[in-house]
Amino acid sequence: MKPRFTFVLVAAALALAGSAQAAPAEDYIAANKCGKCHTEKTTKKGPSFASLAAKYKGDAGATAKLLNTLKTGGSVDHDKATGSDADLQAVITFILASK
Ligand code: HEC
Repeated sequence: MKPRFTFVLVAAALALAGSAQAAPAEDYIAANKCGKCHTEKTTKKGPSFASLAAKYKGDAGATAKLLNTLKTGGSVDHDKATGSDADLQAVITFILASK
């Protein structure tokens, strides 16, 4: 029984790690209530992620700009986002890849 039990534990750990890796940006967006104002495709209080992706398409500085906006409020006086730069960059990458 023991080896089998170990196998189950390892499988569970891998499943957890896998889900955390699959969607860190989506987890962040859910945890930080970005969805109150944004959805992927439709304009709510804020623009849809797909429309932001279209707006910043081809803009090599987009990630830096949006990181600044999320951290400081930027020129649009956005709600300040919490989290590490790495978290925010993952979110921005996710947003800019939206269609
Ligand atoms: C209270 C509503 C609200 C919440 C909550 C909110 N946003 Fe926004 N967001 C807006 C509005 C409104 C705009 C459009 C601002 C403008 O362009 O004038 C915007 C714009 C943006 C932009 C584009 C900024 C730019 O410079 O073009 C990004 C990226 C963004 N939001 C990401 C996020 C993320 C990530 C979260 C969660 C941490 C979030 N927003 C939470 C309302 C919100």
